[in-house]
Amino acid sequence: MNTTHPLPWWSNAVVYQLYVRSFADANGDGIGDLDGITNRLQYLADLGIDAIWLNPCYPSPQKDHGYDVADYLNIEPEYGDLAAYDRLIAEATRLNIRVLMDIVPNHCSTENDWFKRALAAGAGSELREWFYFRDGKGDDGSLPPNNWQAWFGGSAWNRTTNPDGTPGQWYLAMFTPDQPDLNWNHEPVRLAFDNILRFWWDRGAAGFRIDAPAVVGKTPGLPDAPPVPEGTLVTDIAVQNPHVYHRPEVHELFVRWRSVADAYEAEHPGRDIVLIGETFGPSLDIIASYVNERELHTTFFFTLLLNNWEAHRWRQAIQDGGNTLAKGGTSLAWTLNNHDAQRNVSRLGHSDAHLPSSFTFNNLINSHEPVDVEVGTRRARASMLIQGALPGPLFLYFGEELGLPEVLDLPEWALQDPIWERSGRTERGRDGCRVPMPWTSDASTNYGFSDGTDAPQQPWLPQPAQWSELAADQQTNDPNSMLSLYRDVLAARRAMSTQPWVDMLDLPQSPDDTDQATDNQANEDNPIVAYKRGNTTVIANLGSEPFVLPTDCGEIILASGHCPEPGILPSDTAVWLGPARQ
Ligand code: BGC
Repeated sequence: MNTTHPLPWWSNAVVYQLYVRSFADANGDGIGDLDGITNRLQYLADLGIDAIWLNPCYPSPQKDHGYDVADYLNIEPEYGDLAAYDRLIAEATRLNIRVLMDIVPNHCSTENDWFKRALAAGAGSELREWFYFRDGKGDDGSLPPNNWQAWFGGSAWNRTTNPDGTPGQWYLAMFTPDQPDLNWNHEPVRLAFDNILRFWWDRGAAGFRIDAPAVVGKTPGLPDAPPVPEGTLVTDIAVQNPHVYHRPEVHELFVRWRSVADAYEAEHPGRDIVLIGETFGPSLDIIASYVNERELHTTFFFTLLLNNWEAHRWRQAIQDGGNTLAKGGTSLAWTLNNHDAQRNVSRLGHSDAHLPSSFTFNNLINSHEPVDVEVGTRRARASMLIQGALPGPLFLYFGEELGLPEVLDLPEWALQDPIWERSGRTERGRDGCRVPMPWTSDASTNYGFSDGTDAPQQPWLPQPAQWSELAADQQTNDPNSMLSLYRDVLAARRAMSTQPWVDMLDLPQSPDDTDQATDNQANEDNPIVAYKRGNTTVIANLGSEPFVLPTDCGEIILASGHCPEPGILPSDTAVWLGPARQ
């Protein structure tokens, strides 16, 4: 480590993603809120995290649960107010936890004053330049301006109605019709966001997770997209549109925001801001191109979340991350779960016969294949050990430390994700990973979610009764629980070297075939993932047969599951090996 330039706080940080609506409900209305989070921060400090990321908590009609922002400079009343935000920051600061906000640049809400003003100002006005308003095609303008499809289904264009009731122009909305796309070629839009960033930094935020930045640019003239093959899932269509995905405006946005952040840091010595992009993309090279001294500080690398349970994919992801880092010093953030994906306990519990060869965003959230949660839990535990020693920020999603599975059988009446309706009720969407957290086994308080309130309302999504066994208070004193495993991994990670990258290890598949060792890394049948960081060796067995551990890597300091025979690593299990503890 360079002692004159210590690593910034976020470079190896553990960030806990809070779906605000689902973490803790302080006022008993069945909806999570900021005071609920403040009351539970000690739990997160005990878990061993460095920062929290709040999913959008701005005023919003909640058509896409906060990703439809009506006012970027306030707090959603269901979640509290600015005073509650200040209380959260104060308690987080006391516990040495930083707070990241979620910023949504591509679109706002139709309820945002920007959009209302633009509608009122009429066709051709400067205020309409904030968005993509266009006349329709056809003699009477009744056809959409082009053939673009929205991410969550249907046309990306929506027709407005003039004040006199006649049909008006169309506006572009790449997600739902409630989320009009902002025009990033218009300077007032950029200026408005500069101020929004500074507003939250002034209130104590340590940085931003940037939502869906890959779609902020649009090809001038808005030409038609190439036709998509029949049967493509609605949630896959938009990513195939080259006129909205990874255009040069993405770099422009990052360059601008980085310069705003750098200027803010210069004016406020001691502040250390982080900008992290949700840069889903077709290749790691594209994603990595956004991380440099003029753009993002770091970005998500989603491959571990997209992997199935084949070791060669995990080796490849770690290797790719390493190569990228070596090439450009790029910081990549790792994650196994988030609010858009099926939880990994379920994802990895798909019976092998049905396991897709690689997960896509879609089958992560829409898979109806049978799931063995016990198998999935074993694999999720092993995944945490694989991920836990990697250099770079690590993002956890609320409830993964309890081993919560996806709720696959939410009743249809309860489904709220816009994907459900927009797909014509063919894709259930993401509600199953957003069900409120079980804190205790007490059903009368929504399993502790609405603790401390009398006769709370039902939670906004129903919690399965079996979750009483997974509640935080049931796990906290059990040394074999998922919660204990997460605490142990995070404590050991904190103590480990800050060495920036790892060496992949090429272990023979059995003690007898050492002569083939050099082929093992590339061999798709090799079920072992092994790497070394500092003096910690991580070995995971993703296969069905036991594996003989090497004898020269030290003792087992952490194990994801029971290892009954000395020197043998059972199937679906991972260990950290290292020098004996004092
Ligand atoms: C967020 C989603 C959201 C979408 C639209 C994504 O990147 O993670 O939850 O629905 O952006 O804002």
